[in-house]
Order: sequence, then C-alpha cells, then structure tokens
Amino acid sequence: MRTWRILLKNLGLAFTDGLEVLRDISLEILPDNIYALVGPNGSGKTTFMKLLAGILKPTRGSIEMLDEDEIPLNMRREVLLSFQNPDISFSHLTLRRDLMEVFNLRGERLEDIWARLADLGIPPEYVDRELDTLSYGWRKILSLSEYLLLPSKLLCLDEPTANLDLLWSMRIWGFLFRERAKRVFGLIFSTHRPEELLIADRILYIDRGRIKEVSHRDLLAINNDYIKAMLTPQMANILANWDTSLAEELRYFISEATEGDKA
Ligand SMILES: Nc1ncnc2c1ncn2[C@@H]1O[C@H](COP(=O)(O)OP(=O)(O)OP(=O)(O)O)[C@@H](O)[C@H]1O
Ligand SMILES: [Mg+2]
Repeated sequence: MRTWRILLKNLGLAFTDGLEVLRDISLEILPDNIYALVGPNGSGKTTFMKLLAGILKPTRGSIEMLDEDEIPLNMRREVLLSFQNPDISFSHLTLRRDLMEVFNLRGERLEDIWARLADLGIPPEYVDRELDTLSYGWRKILSLSEYLLLPSKLLCLDEPTANLDLLWSMRIWGFLFRERAKRVFGLIFSTHRPEELLIADRILYIDRGRIKEVSHRDLLAINNDYIKAMLTPQMANILANWDTSLAEELRYFISEATEGDKA
C-alpha cells in the first residue's frame, strides 16, 4: 500500500558561493522501493539527503512529502537521516543514555528496544560503553543502530556501511530487511560499494548535479567514469542478467543469514 510520496520539482540547491551543487532535479520517491544513491565524492549525496530530511531547503524548485490524500507532511518529522560521520551525532554519551533520552522525548515505548538491539547483534556491554572510547567502526555501528530503531516514514542512511567490516554490514542490512518485512518504510542509502547496488530496487545516480533514477541494467549504458569504475566484469555480468527479483532474493538471504546471529 502506498502511504506517501516525495515529489521534487526542478529542485536546485546552491550554498553561499552561489554555485548549484544540485540542479534541475525532478523525481518521485516512493516507499515501495529501496534506493541506492551513488555518485563521486563531493557530488552531492549528503546534500541530497539533508534536503530529504528537511535540514537544508532548496534554493530553487520544490520538495514535498505528500500523504495518500495529497496533504503535505512535515519532512523534518517523518524523514530520519543517519549521518555519514558518527561524530556529529555522538560525543561522550552511551547508547543506553542516548536511546532513553531520544525515545522518551518522542514518547515511544522503551520496552522492546533492548531486545531489538540484541536482534541486531549488539552485545549488551556495548550499550553502556562511552562512545568516544570506541573504535571508529563501533561508533558508527552504535550510532547507526539508534536510527534503525527509531520509527520514520523514510530512513535515509548516508554511507551506512563505510568503515564497517563485511559481517557488520550484513548484520545492519539483515536487521533493516527484517524490520521492513514487519513495517513499511522507505529506504534510501548512499554507497560507494558496488555490491550494495544489488540490494536496491532502483538506483539514483548523481551526474554533474543532476540526479537520475535508473534501473540496474541502465547502469551498463551510462557513460560516466564513476559508474564505469564500479562495473567489474562480474558486476557487469550480473547487471546484464538483472531481474528485479534478484534484489528481493538477496535481501531475503541476508535477513535469514543474520537472524539470531550474535556478535
Ligand atoms: N556547507 C557547505 N558550504 C559550501 N559548500 C558545501 C557545503 N556542504 C557541502 N558543500 C559542497 O557541496 C558539494 C557536495 O557535497 P556532499 O557532501 O553532498 O557530497 P557527497 O556526494 O556526499 O560526497 P562524499 O562521497 O565525499 O561523502 C561539495 O562540492 C561540497 O564541497
Ligand atoms: Mg557524503
């Protein structure tokens, strides 16, 4: 069931220097799809996610989230963005203290939070560790876990698995896919990892400030060096034979493989 959509019309964004980092973007984002956002360093992925989360406002055009009756929704409230750099969201806190504060503020029930953290595979001792005493990867895992637990209509993950080992990347994805099987929510993630394109339904790629929505097969025909660098012969072969059910199969495999798996 379609519960909302995000509409971008001729959107542009310029910072104070006046140059448009993002321009001429017209897109529709739906909860049904999982979107992978790709583009070179500095191309505007983080900026785009901040627009979705209502942290930045477009300097041209419009962006709005509409419910099924076409009533505008407050994107700052409905869209959640997990930051690329965990240091922005955490200082000397522990996960337990931060979760209690956040969930109390939102009036959410705390009851099942600890069980869900265990489902994610977070060992209990990490819940009480001061975050600034942890390795970068662990800070990212714990900061990310908080966003995975919070309810939202759209979850934007800015390079969620950068700095995570492959097992932890799998656990994060597995948890998300199991959550998504229980409750519909939109998901957009940015990544530089080619293999993560395979768990997405659609690809959003940024080319010179413009964002285009493409299918996996379309990637093969794109004349863009960043995309080409992702296309190893093995990747190209998978994409050439792409079928939409492959993403679903892979997500099912990952969610099964990581269920009940403890770190
Ligand atoms: N506050 C700001 N003021 C001026 N320019 C900015 C600001 N924030 C970002 N930019 C510029 O906007 C462009 C896009 O940056 P952004 O962080 O969105 O890229 P990105 O695709 O997320 O890159 P990466 O893959 O390295 O994370 C860059 O040229 C960056 O320098
Ligand atoms: Mg970024």
